[in-house]
Amino acid sequence: MNILVLAATGNVGGQIITQLRESGHSVRAVTRDPRTTRFPAEVEVMRGDLSAPDTIAACLDGIDAVFLLWPLHTGEQLPAVLDLVARRARRVVFLGTGGVPDLSFEEQAKLVHGCGIASTMIRPSTFAVNTLWWADQIRAGDVVEGAYGALPMSLIHEADMAAVAVRALTEPGHDGATYTLTGPEVLTQAEQVRVIGEALGRPLRWRELTREQARERLLADESFPDSFVDVLLDGYAAMLAGPPPVLTATVHDVTGIPARSLRQWAMDHAADFS
Ligand SMILES: NC(=O)c1ccc[n+]([C@@H]2O[C@H](COP(=O)([O-])OP(=O)(O)OC[C@H]3O[C@@H](n4cnc5c(N)ncnc54)[C@H](OP(=O)(O)O)[C@@H]3O)[C@@H](O)[C@H]2O)c1
Repeated sequence: MNILVLAATGNVGGQIITQLRESGHSVRAVTRDPRTTRFPAEVEVMRGDLSAPDTIAACLDGIDAVFLLWPLHTGEQLPAVLDLVARRARRVVFLGTGGVPDLSFEEQAKLVHGCGIASTMIRPSTFAVNTLWWADQIRAGDVVEGAYGALPMSLIHEADMAAVAVRALTEPGHDGATYTLTGPEVLTQAEQVRVIGEALGRPLRWRELTREQARERLLADESFPDSFVDVLLDGYAAMLAGPPPVLTATVHDVTGIPARSLRQWAMDHAADFS
């Protein structure tokens, strides 16, 4: 099969490219800047920008299935992109997002499942890779400071999201499905720090900050976008006030392999913390 991967340079897209190559599929990767990307030689790379749907059209020539996510802050162009995809490909797998204020997950699902070709929606829990926001603190010492340390989450490994996406892209039987994915465990932020420490062989611990202290810390962090600071802290406050996460077995059900633990994720990313 010829498979097009949008957001191919991202956490999930990168894993999908790797796993599709391992299973022998022909892959075309899309990025806004092919000059700065590094993919294996067999991967065809094309330029495309989701905010300008015309640029995606050429990327779809000869393609059977498409992996799509939505990195933009408005869903305005999603119908146009899905229309292009549905005219050329036979199957689309969409990674849903909570980051588009004008398009809820349910609205995304309605568009994707209604686009006229075989479709699969993936609804992931919080990405484990978000814990890399603590990497600077972990490099500098054994304490991670932040707010809402008691907030429970189920973190998901990007390789598990990719494994589900690869099944849905390459096998029959996933049409119309909406897969809610979580990791195998629920851990508070303070527990996440301890588990990452265990994986790295270091006694890491959490130090609780007030929301205002955490806000100041994030605003002073040059690697963290200022525009995302309040969004993140508001999101955490809302999650803490809501029901605790419910685990699903969907990664195992779809792939036959249990979801990877945070400990496994941290071992896979040990170099990112050193
Ligand atoms: N973090 C979480 O906890 C979480 C939870 C649920 C859902 N999500 C969703 O997951 C998605 C992010 O996935 P990720 O972590 O794999 O990505 P990522 O590592 O954040 O990278 C962003 C990707 O989007 C691509 N991109 C950005 N703007 C683009 C545009 N205008 N046109 C085409 N491509 C564009 C980038 O490609 P180039 O720069 O190469 O063009 C890059 O590959 C978002 O939709 C987010 O809302 C995240």
